[in-house]
Amino acid sequence: MSLRVDRLSVRFWLGPRGSIDSGEVVSAVSDVSFTLRPGRLLALVGESGCGKSVLTSTLVGLLPANADVRGEVWWSAGAERVELLGAPEPVLRDRIRGRAIGLVPQSAATHLTPVRTLGGQLREAARVLRPSSDPGAAALAAIAQVGLDEAALEKYPHELSGGMAQRAGVAMALVGGPEVILADEPTAGLDRELVEQTMDLLAGLARAGHAVLVVTHDLRAVRRVADDLAVMYASRLVETGPAGALFDRPWHPYTRGLLGALPDGGFRPIPGDPPELTRLPDGCAFRPRCPVSEDCTGDSELRAHGDRAVACHPAPA
Ligand SMILES: Nc1ncnc2c1ncn2[C@@H]1O[C@H](COP(=O)(O)OP(=O)(O)O)[C@@H](O)[C@H]1O
Ligand SMILES: [Mg+2]
Repeated sequence: MSLRVDRLSVRFWLGPRGSIDSGEVVSAVSDVSFTLRPGRLLALVGESGCGKSVLTSTLVGLLPANADVRGEVWWSAGAERVELLGAPEPVLRDRIRGRAIGLVPQSAATHLTPVRTLGGQLREAARVLRPSSDPGAAALAAIAQVGLDEAALEKYPHELSGGMAQRAGVAMALVGGPEVILADEPTAGLDRELVEQTMDLLAGLARAGHAVLVVTHDLRAVRRVADDLAVMYASRLVETGPAGALFDRPWHPYTRGLLGALPDGGFRPIPGDPPELTRLPDGCAFRPRCPVSEDCTGDSELRAHGDRAVACHPAPA
């Protein structure tokens, strides 16, 4: 099983005329490629507004009508292969969303209905997503995967602690049995302890064989748990590779800047602001903020070097 994103671009047109060739265009995702694999947690990090949520929504076919999407997204499991961008809505609904790909929403706990028990909500979702299996068994399996015990099924959301409610929210994303898990800012607004718990939970799902994507602007939150890292800047990936290597030896000046902004990196925020996505330069979009732009060769292609790739190629010293 895998989810392969191949040269994905998403643009929005603004204004009334209803076409990508008319008026102003927002380039939210530009030429992005990566693959989610079982047993690995990929963290996609980048500042707010760089296109992370648009990317995540695209993977489950949830985009507004003013979007123009290019590229391919291949979900495959065994002999089954579906190109998600061209797939008809009934296929996405009946085969993919919730069943093949689970979405952990931002503040997952708040998506629980306050007036029903957790078990009731999980069984209802299971009846829709897995009509041929026993909803009670599916609900039990889902809470077991997030480390809750059976007693939690009888509880109403307000009877759960913050940590348990967060787990329950993640269980809702698992009840349809998806092997791919997408989590968009799953820890936004949580305190540090819950951030760590939620990240451990998502990492545990990867260890159990799921393919996990965690999208966050909080590099610190994924430091311990990411297997792979993809750094996004102004709609493009600027650096990708094994997380340990990128944290230890970041190559791209933007990745170095993100690490330098962390408390243990010196708390030095990157000066300046990202560019407007309506006015992206053809070359490196980070150049106006880049501390090493004197050595810039102008080459900002994302190029592979072994298992890493980077979009910065300064002149050799
Ligand atoms: N429906 C839309 N129409 C036009 N622009 C949009 C739409 N949805 C998102 N955007 C723009 O796409 C860019 C990326 O947004 P988003 O993916 O939410 O960023 P992130 O999740 O990284 O904070 C932003 O500039 C945002 O304003
Ligand atoms: Mg977002």
